[in-house]
Amino acid sequence: MQLIDKQLGDVKDRSLADQGRSKIEWAATFMPVLAQIKERFAKEKPLAGVRIGACLHVTTETANLVLALQAGGAEVELCASNPLSTQDDVAAALSEHFAIPTHAIKGEDNATYYKHIESVVATKPHMTMDDGCDLVTTIYTKHNHLLKEMIGGCEETTTGVIRLHAMEKDGLLPFPVIAVNDALTKHMFDNRYGTGQSTIDGIVRATNVLFAGHTVVVCGYGWCGRGVASRVKGLGATVIVTEIDPLKALEAAMDGFLVMPIAEAAKAGDIFITVTGNYHVIAGEHFEAMKDGAIVCNSGHFNDELDLDALGELTVSKTQPRAFVDAHKMKNGNTVRVLAEGRLINLSAAEGHPPSVMDMSFANQAMAAGYLAQNYKTLEKKVYPVPAFIDEEVAKLKLAAMRIAIDTPTPEQVKYMASWSEGT
Ligand SMILES: NC(=O)c1ccc[n+]([C@@H]2O[C@H](COP(=O)([O-])OP(=O)(O)OC[C@H]3O[C@@H](n4cnc5c(N)ncnc54)[C@H](O)[C@@H]3O)[C@@H](O)[C@H]2O)c1
Repeated sequence: MQLIDKQLGDVKDRSLADQGRSKIEWAATFMPVLAQIKERFAKEKPLAGVRIGACLHVTTETANLVLALQAGGAEVELCASNPLSTQDDVAAALSEHFAIPTHAIKGEDNATYYKHIESVVATKPHMTMDDGCDLVTTIYTKHNHLLKEMIGGCEETTTGVIRLHAMEKDGLLPFPVIAVNDALTKHMFDNRYGTGQSTIDGIVRATNVLFAGHTVVVCGYGWCGRGVASRVKGLGATVIVTEIDPLKALEAAMDGFLVMPIAEAAKAGDIFITVTGNYHVIAGEHFEAMKDGAIVCNSGHFNDELDLDALGELTVSKTQPRAFVDAHKMKNGNTVRVLAEGRLINLSAAEGHPPSVMDMSFANQAMAAGYLAQNYKTLEKKVYPVPAFIDEEVAKLKLAAMRIAIDTPTPEQVKYMASWSEGT
């Protein structure tokens, strides 16, 4: 049964709240860095009185982030950053047990998705926390009057950061935004190892396919693509990479992958994974060229990496043999199986990134929010990197939590590294 309560948000089934709480607590055991920040926040209250509107994937890891923000004194209202990524039990637990009004239902249609964003905007947030820039663009385009009370925002993902830079370039960025994605302790680990593992998890849960012996086409060899390609190779697949950037293509080739244009790869692949953040990377003619039975999915931010309208035009009939699988029988007699309607496969058919890696991403988010609350008066309407001291602290805390010690340079080494006069 679907309940709607303005105070508590809009979730699918509140009876799932206990199950959701148990999963949130399980994830917390893998998030020691965030736990330390939460403890510090509880003492120092750096977010006291700050209303945060958060548009994030509603997962166990996000739940732990919003609880850390709440411990820091923030009032947080949450909606989903993707219609298929919500964990309904987590949404129920946040609303019922943790006083975080949550507006998110897995599988919500587009109208409900945007209604939920509007519900968060209606709380008049001082700060946005986005994964894909939807809150910032909604506030900018439709609720300009809120801007005078706003202090800034934080952005979680590559695609969101690209959009914010585009707004900044056009002189339209409404407030300072911290690009959390650009922290090294975020994208080097979350995008690479998180997406690498969880994308495979999503594909396997949706299809139960064996990677060994199959040819997998990975479109895009950025941080996510590197992770996906290396993990898929480890499972025994032959991996083809497609790219538009010569340096990334060269890197992929030297890392041992086959590199070719998508028009050629389309004919060779058994499984296709897009992770580019770009538009219509797999187009109608590529679907048409695929082998019978090809599996196609996307792990980039938006589902328009796949031209699903073009595929629709080529399709004569569509069936759903398993959850998250649409089998499109095309006019040419071949069937192409598209997973999770082209939405982020790792968050739709699996649980997204494991908490150990989100520990670092969300430690950055929490500290960036604290930094913004303390320093917004000195910031301009620009996209800012996460301050280096935050990145370094996250790395140190994570190493300590992993019980890994490293060396400290000797005074001679410090001097040597700083000098220009030492020769052979
Ligand atoms: N699934 C997840 O949980 C998850 C996690 C992090 C990021 N993301 C999303 O994944 C996408 C990629 O993120 P990233 O950090 O790897 O970005 P990135 O910028 O590091 O890499 C993207 C790569 O795609 C390449 N590319 C662009 N257009 C292409 C095309 N037409 N064909 C082939 N390659 C093309 C670019 O040259 C670049 O090398 C973004 O949309 C990001 O928001 C998803």
